[in-house]
Amino acid sequence: RDVLMREKDLHGVRLLVTGGPTVEPIDPVRYVTNRSSGKMGYAIAEAAVRRGADVTLVSGPTHLDPPAGVTTVQVTSAEEMYREVLDRFEAHDIVIKAAAVADYRPAHYAGHKMKKNDSSLVLEFVRTPDILAELGKRKSDQFLVGFAAETNDVEQHAIHKLKQKNLDLIVANDVSKPGAGFDVDTNVVSIYSRDGLVKELPKMDKRAVADALLDEIKGIRDG
Ligand code: CTP
Ligand code: CA
Repeated sequence: RDVLMREKDLHGVRLLVTGGPTVEPIDPVRYVTNRSSGKMGYAIAEAAVRRGADVTLVSGPTHLDPPAGVTTVQVTSAEEMYREVLDRFEAHDIVIKAAAVADYRPAHYAGHKMKKNDSSLVLEFVRTPDILAELGKRKSDQFLVGFAAETNDVEQHAIHKLKQKNLDLIVANDVSKPGAGFDVDTNVVSIYSRDGLVKELPKMDKRAVADALLDEIKGIRDG
C-alpha cells in the first residue's frame, strides 16, 4: 500500500525542471558550452511524472530521448532557456534547476566562419542572465531548488548560492568525487536548506537521487 501511495504522491503538482547544458555560439561552426549530459535533470523529470506530477522539462542540447509523459521544451542558449523558464514560472509549484547554464557567451556572433591566422585569438565574453537568481526575485509561493556544481569548499559555496538566489533547497554536487562527475549514471550529493544540512546522500544512481530529492521537497512542502 505504501508503494502504491508513493507512486502518485505528487499528483496535481506542477513541476518545472531544467536539464542539460546551454550552448553559446561563436560562429556557424564553433561554440562554448558546459560539461553536462542532462542525465540528472531528465531523471528528475521521469521520477516526478511517474509520481503523478505535471512535468515540464526545459532542456539544453543532450543525447537523451525526451521522457514519456513530460512536456519537453528544447532550447540552445542561456538566453533562450531564460525566456522559456520565465514564461512558465508562474504556472508551476516546484522549479528545479539542474541545467548547467553557461555563465558567459561570446559578445559577438560572427555570421561567417572565422578564419585562422598566425596570431593568437582573444574572444570577448559577456554575462548571460542568471535564470535562478531572477526566479528567486520573482518567487511568490513556488518552491525553488538549485544545483551547485563545485570542486572545492562545497558546503560554503552551496549555502552562499542558496541565500543569494533566495532558494528553498540546494543540491550540492562535488564534481571532483569519483562517481559524481559528468556523463556517469551516479551522483554524490548533499541537500541544504536555509537551516543547514538536510540530507547527505551516498553515491547513488541518478534516478535514486531524483526520488530522494523529490521526497525531501515533498516533506518540506507538506510541513
Ligand atoms: N544558474 C542559472 N542561470 C545561470 C547560471 C546558473 O539558472 N546563468 C543556476 C544553475 O542551473 C544552478 C545554480 O544556478 O541551479 C547554480 O549554478 P552554478 O553554476 O553552480 O553557480 P553560479 O551561480 O553560476 O556560480 P559559479 O558558476 O560562479 O560557481
Ligand atoms: Ca555557473
